[in-house]
Amino acid sequence: MKYLLNKAGLCFTSCLGGALVLAACGGGATPAEAPAQDPAATPEAPSPAEASRVPAEESAEAAPTTKKFDELSPEEKMAVMKTQVIPQMTEAFQALDAKEFENFRCTTCHGPGANNGDFEMPTKSLPKLDEEEMKDHPEMTKFMIEQVVPKMAAILGEPTYNPETHQGFGCFNCHIKKD
Ligand code: HEC
Ligand code: HEC
Repeated sequence: MKYLLNKAGLCFTSCLGGALVLAACGGGATPAEAPAQDPAATPEAPSPAEASRVPAEESAEAAPTTKKFDELSPEEKMAVMKTQVIPQMTEAFQALDAKEFENFRCTTCHGPGANNGDFEMPTKSLPKLDEEEMKDHPEMTKFMIEQVVPKMAAILGEPTYNPETHQGFGCFNCHIKKD
């Protein structure tokens, strides 16, 4: 616990400078490339009303992103979200907490605006981040560092945040900083 808080603190200090020291945050451990998947966490029958669901076959066939996400057309961006982000992130979030994230969909990240075509990121619909927020949610912080950031970065065709170059995908591509 203390160790994690220290790591989170370290991370946040650099995050505040616009940086995310993933190496520091990860405690020197290589970010898990293939984290153990809990088969028990596989979602049960999703609600039929869930428009954002994509059949598994479709996601399996999705071509790997060759272009950077930024360079894609709006239609291609939608396709990446549906065929890659939703399946991979649903799996990750439900492995963390199947109940809490039972209904994982576009709005989980984008907020209710997603229903009206507002996909702007970072979004004020997610909890704003500061050191306090991270200390209050150590499990979630660890999950974000080890799973969400590396997985999303890979899907988007971006490196994870590099504090030296200020390039790459990190916490503040989704969350807004609390001030
Ligand atoms: C795990 C979180 C997450 C989920 C779930 C998610 N998105 Fe996204 N989405 C993002 C992030 C992060 C970006 C911004 C990527 C970047 O930094 O360029 C984004 C960007 C977009 C964009 C491009 C916005 C722009 O201004 O170019 C669209 C469109 C979009 N998402 C649609 C969707 C749709 C539709 C769904 C559901 C099928 C969805 N997203 C689910 C995280 C998510
Ligand atoms: C792809 C988008 C995305 C990225 C990148 C991301 N997060 Fe999150 N974060 C989320 C979502 C979605 C939730 C869950 C919100 C909910 O419970 O509905 C969340 C929740 C959290 C929470 C829980 C807050 C609370 O009050 O419950 C913390 C803390 C957090 N994130 C920290 C981080 C940190 C630190 C990073 C960078 C290492 C990060 N996040 C990167 C999408 C993201």
